Amino acid sequence: MKDAAPLVLGIESTCDETGVALVRGNELLADVTATSMDEYARYGGIIPEIASRAHLESFLPTMYAALEKAGVGLQEVAAIACAAGPGLIGSLTVGTAAAKALALATGKPLYGVNHILGHVAVDQLVHGPLPQPTIALVVSGGHSNLLLIRDLATDVVELGGTLDDAAGEAFDKVGRLLGLPYPGGPHLDRLAQAGDERAIAFPRALRSGEDRKKYPYDFSFSGLKTAVARYLAHHWPDGQIPEQAKADIAASFSAAVNDSLIDRAIRACRDHECTTLVIGGGFSANSHLRRLAAERAEGIEVRIPPIRYCTDNGAMIGALGSVVVRASLTPSGLGFANDSSMPLTQAVIAA
Ligand code: KG4
Ligand code: ZN
Repeated sequence: MKDAAPLVLGIESTCDETGVALVRGNELLADVTATSMDEYARYGGIIPEIASRAHLESFLPTMYAALEKAGVGLQEVAAIACAAGPGLIGSLTVGTAAAKALALATGKPLYGVNHILGHVAVDQLVHGPLPQPTIALVVSGGHSNLLLIRDLATDVVELGGTLDDAAGEAFDKVGRLLGLPYPGGPHLDRLAQAGDERAIAFPRALRSGEDRKKYPYDFSFSGLKTAVARYLAHHWPDGQIPEQAKADIAASFSAAVNDSLIDRAIRACRDHECTTLVIGGGFSANSHLRRLAAERAEGIEVRIPPIRYCTDNGAMIGALGSVVVRASLTPSGLGFANDSSMPLTQAVIAA
């Protein structure tokens, strides 16, 4: 198999998931994930110190499970890719320290790659190579961004992003207001399906006049979150919200968020003459977003990976690693520093 694409080991540790995957070209050989999410329900949010310790405990078992599943040994790996940012610095430190140790012990080249671009790259494992150019909407707990992708390895332009809260973050916060367990996103998604999205006209920010011109590809969700809080305080000052009202609020809020996301994403496609829109990140699991994208994207092919590849995983890092190795980019080496706010235009962190 001399001509086969290089085998890449991908390591994800930006938040609460420890993910390890093996990717060859656009083929996923194995993908194993351990998560510490269950530990956070009682705190109502991720505790970085707990997440870092969990990575330490999970890394080796996760890596061995992935190698076994793929039926390969470490010596067969051509390159190692690990997420170098954006993310929680403690979590990143554990994953990249493990990756550096592996690279040192095996002599394999190491690439510190961009977690957010990984959310885009993973789609190639499912739907094949992305056409160039492509518009990417990356929506997660920490990010909501629109990117123009001319080449995932070397030419990514950041068109816009959220001015305040990310879509997932807004869902988690409103989930909390409605008394849903943490993380609120998936619970609110389910609740919204039982509600009427026209029940309450929540505001859509940056959609008219000067704002629309000044922020053509941006989002803002913090005013919307405040509008939900005010609505609840006004109607149910005692906090006893009837179940149907909760569902209607969830549906109306979800419509406002997703309407903004899809409006901007489609506008970016039309303005840049892109006929492909790829959506990635944990929030792309949202059923309303998927429905709206399919409804409104006339003439545009919408690509969204299956839900298990939308939330954080090792496959996304293996996929991006595979892209940068095949593009012959320079490895990051062993001396690079993680960047918790790594620019979205940068696929590989410099040495
Ligand atoms: O990409 P991800 O796994 O981690 C980050 O990099 O942030 O995204 C996690 C975010 C959380 O805010 C979570 O509530 C949200 O994605 N999420 C959802 C759904 N599934 C996950 N939000 C809305 N609807 C869902 N079905
Ligand atoms: Zn993510």
